[in-house]
Amino acid sequence: MTQALIRKARLTDLDAVERIETSVFDSDQLSRASLRRYMSVPSAAMIVADENKDITGYALLGFRKGSRIGRLYSIAVDTARAGHGIGRALLSACEDQVRKRECDLLALEVRADNPRAIALYEKNGYVQTGEEPDWYEDGGTALRFEKSFSAKPKASASKA
Ligand SMILES: CC(C)(COP(=O)(O)OP(=O)(O)OC[C@H]1O[C@@H](n2cnc3c(N)ncnc32)[C@H](O)[C@@H]1OP(=O)(O)O)[C@@H](O)C(=O)NCCC(=O)NCCS
Repeated sequence: MTQALIRKARLTDLDAVERIETSVFDSDQLSRASLRRYMSVPSAAMIVADENKDITGYALLGFRKGSRIGRLYSIAVDTARAGHGIGRALLSACEDQVRKRECDLLALEVRADNPRAIALYEKNGYVQTGEEPDWYEDGGTALRFEKSFSAKPKASASKA
């Protein structure tokens, strides 16, 4: 289990988040300008893993006004720190944000050729809902996953 401090991103984290983004993803990278904007707009939430002031991972969520669906735009962990529970901790913090904003669903796309990320989602209760060929810049296929957060109706002790 990681000892990283999982917290909201600050503008001073921008260099580190950009470094992770460009080193971890080969295509469909978010630009520095986009990352900066997402750090400050209310329709997004960026979370970082802070290990003794070293930013070793980040996750980005997007929300739409009037929609109860949160979207996981990105999640990435420094390659040197992969496999230490940071991805799981970031995903869990994203889910806290989704609950806080009273969303019913967290939805995401993941590359079909990314077994590590797919395992992370499946182990944490995400179910595949679709497939989008030619989704990425390089023509790669995306799988759509989602997890429901809607409150289940409580079982009634007596029938009306
Ligand atoms: C996917 C990613 C975020 C996972 O982060 P991480 O910190 O390495 O993952 P964790 O250590 O928290 O492990 C969580 C789960 O991921 C999966 N996982 C982690 N390392 C793995 C490996 N080497 N092989 C297969 N699955 C692996 C496992 O299901 C693991 O759960 P477990 O520990 O209960 O077995 C990270 O590998 C990453 O940044 N990858 C590149 C960017 C990316 O693909 N992002 C996803 C875009 S949709």
